[in-house]
Order: sequence, then structure tokens, then C-alpha cells
Amino acid sequence: ADGDAAKGEKVFKKCAACHSVEPGVNKVGPSLHGVFGRHAGTGEGYSYSKLNGEASEVGLVWNDETLMDYLVDPQKFLETYVSSNGGTPDGRTKMTFKLKKEKERADVIAYLKTLSD
Ligand code: HEM
Repeated sequence: ADGDAAKGEKVFKKCAACHSVEPGVNKVGPSLHGVFGRHAGTGEGYSYSKLNGEASEVGLVWNDETLMDYLVDPQKFLETYVSSNGGTPDGRTKMTFKLKKEKERADVIAYLKTLSD
């Protein structure tokens, strides 16, 4: 996508209550250092919901497309992803936050990219 990473760093303040960008520092949510390009559910030392784990098992990787769809409605995205890839969605994600504005999503994703080497 064509987001603006500098703007995305400001949008990230909405995420920072639950997510650190320091490697290995988990809060309510997993560290988002290196999350772009990573397999879902593989943040070190973090205990994910069953649903997030199932999405990982059926192959979910965080990239422009998947993050754009996830951030607008994580529960709906994960359920759809699991069922369209042969799984049976079970339970609820622990991420209840939704980022509705498309521009904010594109910008925060551009920022997340700067945190992956
Ligand atoms: C999970 C991004 C805001 C709580 C995740 C994941 C991503 C993400 C990509 C999946 C990580 C993985 O599979 O390794 C973001 C972004 C946010 C945001 C970009 C802001 C725009 C929040 C907020 C909260 C939160 C505000 C708390 C109120 C969580 C939790 C998980 C999670 C608890 C684990 C989900 C599970 O195990 O089901 N987030 N998040 N997030 N997030 Fe967020």
C-alpha cells in the first residue's frame, strides 16, 4: 500500500496502550517489532488466543493485504481467514480494537514496515 510512515507513527499511539515496538516486549498484546512479513501468532513469549493460533496454522502471514483487512475488524477477518482456508474458527481474538479509517490503516502499516528488518 502507499501509506505514510511518519503519519503512521502518530496513528500508532492508538495501538501503544496494548503494543510495544521494542523486540520481545509484550504488553496486553504482543510486541509488533518485526510483525510485518511475519507468520501470525509467532511473537516470542506471547500467549495468543486460540482463534489467532488457528489462523497461523492455516498459513496467515502479515502483509499489506492481510493487515488492511485485519485492522478494520480483527474478529471478522480471522474467522473468515480460518474458514476460507479449511479450518473451523473457534472462539474470539483478544484484539478488540478496530481501526476503521482506511488512510490510518495504510499509514500505520507503512510504519509497521519500518520495524521489520
Ligand atoms: C494482536 C496490530 C491495537 C490488543 C495484534 C496483531 C496485530 C496487531 C498485527 C497480531 C499479531 C500476531 O499475530 O503476532 C495492532 C495495531 C493496532 C492495534 C496496528 C493499532 C492500530 C490494539 C489495541 C489493543 C490490542 C488498542 C488493546 C486494546 C491486541 C491483542 C492481540 C493483538 C490482545 C492478541 C490477539 C489474540 O491473541 O487473539 N494486534 N493492534 N491491539 N492486539 Fe493489536
